[in-house]
Amino acid sequence: MTTPERMLTGVPTAEEAQYEAGLRPRRLDEYIGQDRVRDNLDVSIAAARGRAEALDHVLLYGPPGLGKTTLAYVIAQEMGVPIRSTAGPVIEKAGDLAAMLTNLQQHEVLFIDEIHRMAPAIEEILYPAMEDYELDIIIGQGPSARSVKVPLQRFTLIGATTRAGLLTSPLRARFGIVHRLDFYAQGDIEEIVRRSARILGVGIDDDAASEVARRSRGTPRIANRLLRRVRDYAQVRADGHVTGEVARAAMTLLEVDDHGFDEVDRKLLRTIIDKFGGGPVGVNTLSAAIHEERDAIEDIYEPFLLEAGFLDRTPRGRVATARAYQYFGLKAPGKDSRLW
Ligand SMILES: Nc1ncnc2c1ncn2[C@@H]1O[C@H](COP(=O)(O)OP(=O)(O)O)[C@@H](O)[C@H]1O
Ligand SMILES: [Mg+2]
Repeated sequence: MTTPERMLTGVPTAEEAQYEAGLRPRRLDEYIGQDRVRDNLDVSIAAARGRAEALDHVLLYGPPGLGKTTLAYVIAQEMGVPIRSTAGPVIEKAGDLAAMLTNLQQHEVLFIDEIHRMAPAIEEILYPAMEDYELDIIIGQGPSARSVKVPLQRFTLIGATTRAGLLTSPLRARFGIVHRLDFYAQGDIEEIVRRSARILGVGIDDDAASEVARRSRGTPRIANRLLRRVRDYAQVRADGHVTGEVARAAMTLLEVDDHGFDEVDRKLLRTIIDKFGGGPVGVNTLSAAIHEERDAIEDIYEPFLLEAGFLDRTPRGRVATARAYQYFGLKAPGKDSRLW
C-alpha cells in the first residue's frame, strides 16, 4: 500500500472541509498554541473593542494547515462581528471585490484567503479601501472619464497567505497587524489531538495522542486527519478505544513514519543526497528532478524539513543536513559536519 496522497501535507482534501468545521476552535481561548500570536491578538482586539473601533487589518501567514482560516474566524467572533469570506484566485472582476467592500457594514471582517493570488488590477482596489476606507471608481472613458470616490464603512481586512514573500509591498504595507504562524510544538499538537478526540467522541490514551502528534509535522490539520484514520482502525481492528499500540499499528498500516515523512519528503532528501552529492542544489533543478511543482516544494515540503533540521537553505541552494543522512542510515560526508 502506498501512503494516500496528501496524507501528510497540510493542504486540505476535498472531503475534509465538512468535518473540519466541527473541529475548529471558535474563541481565542480555545485556540491552542501560537501563544505569542494569541497574546498579541488578544491585546489588539481588546483595544479595538475598548475604543469601539474596527480592528486594524490583519495579515496571517504560514504553511497550510496551521490555523490561519480558523484564526480569521476566531478574530471576527471575538470582535463580535460577521465575517465575509473569499479567496484571491476566485475574485475574477474588480467589480466583484468592489461589491463585497461596499456591502460591508461597520467593523465587519472581510477575509481573503490566498491573498497573494489576486490579480494586480483587483489588488489595487484594496489600497484606498484599506487605507482611506474608500473606493476609487473610474466612470466613463477617454477625456470624459472621471474618478469618483465611494466611501466605505470602517472594516477589517484579514488576509491569509502561505507565501508572505509573494505579497506586493504596497499591499503588505497596509496591514497594521502581521503574524506568522509557526509549526506547533509536540505538546500543543497533543492537546489538539485530545481536544479533537473529545469532540469526535473517540477514547484515546495519552501515549496514543502523543504518537499521533509526533507524526503530524507540527500541523493541526494533519493531526486531525491522522486521528480520523486511527479512529477507523480502532473501530475495525480493535474495540474502538485508541491505545498507543492501536495508534502505532494504524500508522504502520498507513506507512506514516516516525517523523511524519511521506514519499515526497524521502524522495526530495534522497535526490539531494544521491544525485547532487548532498547539495547545494537550486529549487528549480530539484523540482525537475523529483517531478514536483516548485510551489509545492516551497509551500508544503520544504518548510517542515527546514524546521525539523533535515534541510538547509543556502544562497546557492538546498543542502541535505547530517540529520537527513542519518535518517537514511547513511554517513554524512565530511563537508556537512558543520551542520551537526
Ligand atoms: N490552534 C488550533 N487549535 C486547535 N485546532 C486547530 C488550531 N489551528 C488549526 N486547527 C485545526 O486545524 C484545521 C486546519 O486549520 P485551518 O485554519 O483551516 O488552517 P489554514 O487555514 O492555515 O490552512 C482546522 O480545522 C482546525 O480544526
Ligand atoms: Mg485556510
